Parts: sequence; C-alpha cells; structure tokens
Amino acid sequence: MHIRALLAFSAVVTAASAGFVWDDHPWQRPTPEDRRSPCPLLNSLANHGFLARDGRDISIDDIVNGIEEAVNLSPNSSRPVAELAATASTTGNPKTLNLDDLNTHGVIEHDASLSREDTYFGDNHSFNPKIYHSFSKFFTEPVISIETAAAARSSRISCARAANPDFEFGADQDRVSRLETALYLAVFGKGTEGNARTKWVDVLFREERLPYREGFRRPAEAISNDDIVELADKIAAAS
Ligand code: HEM
Ligand SMILES: *[C@@H]1O[C@H](CO)[C@@H](O)[C@H](O)[C@H]1NC(C)=O
Ligand SMILES: *[C@@H]1O[C@H](CO)[C@@H](O)[C@H](O)[C@H]1NC(C)=O
Repeated sequence: MHIRALLAFSAVVTAASAGFVWDDHPWQRPTPEDRRSPCPLLNSLANHGFLARDGRDISIDDIVNGIEEAVNLSPNSSRPVAELAATASTTGNPKTLNLDDLNTHGVIEHDASLSREDTYFGDNHSFNPKIYHSFSKFFTEPVISIETAAAARSSRISCARAANPDFEFGADQDRVSRLETALYLAVFGKGTEGNARTKWVDVLFREERLPYREGFRRPAEAISNDDIVELADKIAAAS
C-alpha cells in the first residue's frame, strides 16, 4: 500500500475506534463473588457494566434502562419481565434483586433451557457446553432463520422431556421459552425477519459478552414489544 493511502487508512481506523460504546463499557470477566443469572443477556450486561458488575441490588429501572441503553429493546417489552423477575428478590427490597435470585425455578427459570441443565439435574443456571452444543449444532449457516431457531428450540424441548423424569413444561414455560428465542432473534437479527448472526449469538451464549468486536452495534431503531410478540408467534407457527 502507498504510504499516503496507509496513513489515510489508519486515520480512518483511529477515528472509527474512538468513542465506541465499549470504551465506556469494557467487558470484564466476573469474579467468583459476583452474582450471575441464567440469562445470557443480563449476564453480558453486567460483564459490560450496563448493570452493576457485582450483580447485586439491581433495580427494575436499572434492568429496563440497561437493556435499552445496550440493545435498544423498548421498556414496554422489558419492564413487565423485570417486574416479574423482582418477585424472586432476596434483597429485602421488593424493587431490587440480585442476579442469582433469577435461578429460582418457576418464576422465569424453566426446564428445557437452550444452554442450561434442568433443575432436576442440579445446576439450573450455569452455561452448560454439552446442552448448548445440542442446541447450537442446528446453526450451520452464517445466520439463524426463524425456522432454524424453532427447530433448535423444539429439539432441546424433546431431549429435555426424554431425559428429565420431573420435566415440567406447560403453556407458560413454552411461552417464556418462545420469547427468549424471539429476543435473541430480534437483538441479533433484522427486524421481525429473524436471521440473527450466528457468530453474535454464539458470543452471547459462550462468553456472555456483546459481540461488538464481531461487528454488533446497538440497533438504531427501538425493538418494540410488538416485534417480540410477532417473532414469538412466528416461532410458534414454525414449531
Ligand atoms: C427484564 C429483562 C430480562 C429478564 C428478567 C430475563 C431473565 C431471564 C431468565 C431468568 C432466563 C432463564 C430462563 C431459563 O432458561 O430457565 C432467561 C433466559 C434467556 N434470556 Fe433473558 N431476561 C431478560 C431479558 C433478555 C433480553 C433482552 C434478551 C435478549 C437477547 C434475553 C435473552 C435470553 C435468552 C436467549 C435466554 C435463554 C437462555 C437459555 O435457554 O439457555 N433476555 N432470561
Ligand atoms: C438452582 O440451582 C441453584 C444452584 O445450583 C440451587 O441453589 C437452586 O436451589 C436451584 N433451584 C432449584 C429449585 O433447585
Ligand atoms: C411503547 O408503548 C407506548 C404506549 O402504548 C407507545 O406509544 C410506544 O410507541 C411504545 N414504544 C415502542 C418502542 O414500542
């Protein structure tokens, strides 16, 4: 490359990397004392400091605002879930929770998670590579379509149903599980079409990190609750 072109190129790179969101929100591995949840997104937000890194005393507003700031999901969608989450609070303040309060089975936590073991087998909240593999082996393309996401989810439900003598997965759990698939498709895909970037979804689950380095940016337009419901309905139709 010509030296002038090279200088121009590095000026562009410098300008482009100044003031990016990860300068204010660097990813840090949690310490053993930090609390974490079964939700890969909330854990990622704590790892980036969008939520308290220690995972303690996090308010409903902190969750709603942190999600909006990081991934532009409408409070219309996150607030009801955050309020439900706070019913599992052990902080002594009904408006705050510790992230590990979300391990409580039956509030949001359910069987047939995509990347966690069922409560019957013990650890219901830590990332489990074997279970995640049984789910993510469906992702053979650079993007995850609605049909692929639905097939991967259905397979996890069948395997968990076959393995767990205490398996509990009624209409409520099914609905929550569909919403979780809708959420990753909405945040890492295009509108309500699905097609989430496989690499970005993989980084979220495996590393509990927002995939900025892989090109992810906060969606410019807010993801609405209607978008999430539409995606969840499409997943139901494809299941
Ligand atoms: C108010 C906000 C939220 C709360 C309280 C919350 C809480 C939870 C909980 C408790 C689980 C565990 C369910 C289980 O598998 O047993 C979960 C799973 C999940 N959440 Fe969240 N979440 C929130 C927002 C989000 C957002 C914005 C995303 C966007 C990507 C997301 C993505 C996921 C995914 C993909 C799973 C499935 C994990 C798995 O099955 O292994 N969540 N969430
Ligand atoms: C979920 O897992 C945690 C830690 O392994 C455990 O303390 C908790 O009791 C589990 N939930 C249930 C209902 O077993
Ligand atoms: C949230 O709900 C309000 C009231 O229904 C609505 O006006 C607004 O457009 C919604 N925001 C998004 C992003 O969906």
